[in-house]
Amino acid sequence: MKGFLTGAIVAIVGMFLALYIYFAAGFAPVATNAPMMPFEKTFAHMALSSHIDKEAPKNVPIPLNEANYLAGAHAYLDNCAVCHGAPGKQPTAIARGMFPHPPKLMEGTGVTDDPAGETYWKIANGIRLTGMPGFKDSLSETQMWQMAVLLANADKLPPSATAVLMGQNEAAPPPATPLPATQQPPSK
Ligand code: HEC
Repeated sequence: MKGFLTGAIVAIVGMFLALYIYFAAGFAPVATNAPMMPFEKTFAHMALSSHIDKEAPKNVPIPLNEANYLAGAHAYLDNCAVCHGAPGKQPTAIARGMFPHPPKLMEGTGVTDDPAGETYWKIANGIRLTGMPGFKDSLSETQMWQMAVLLANADKLPPSATAVLMGQNEAAPPPATPLPATQQPPSK
């Protein structure tokens, strides 16, 4: 029994030492274009999906109508397209240089196979250590839901929303919300 315990302790200490040396001596990848660490993706995805299973909202609180898709398309262009791309556009220099690569959300399956609540959670909270920002301190809940339903239905958007995403709707921007009097830009 004593021999077994000593063996177990040596094995555990050895494992931590090996891990420590792996990171401390610079074996772990740090450049964005370096290969993955062993199990990096597996562990990161495990942590993410168990969090989301617990926390993502199950019901969509906004109607799936054209107005919400249009607002979502504008918010997406402003905040997301630089990394996640837009229909018919080449990936930007920023998107190309990131690790992990931001997935294309407007091409192929994107996240049309994920529930909108899961995408809402990712937009609100971001994904730590990936470059995916969390937006809950910058955007309203409505805006985040508008983008979540836009992305969940990216394969069947109304043509007007696709036109906005392709930059073809410059003539008719959505009505701007007037700023409160205190924040009005100074008149010339
Ligand atoms: C600075 C670059 C950047 C910006 C800006 C950005 N993202 Fe991301 N996003 C990423 C990266 C990188 C990932 C991949 C994370 C990973 O591999 O786990 C990601 C992942 C995601 C995912 C998960 C994709 C999947 O396959 O599960 C969603 C959804 C998402 N982003 C939505 C958005 C939305 C909506 C916006 C704008 C409000 C946005 N992102 C802005 C970089 C960005």
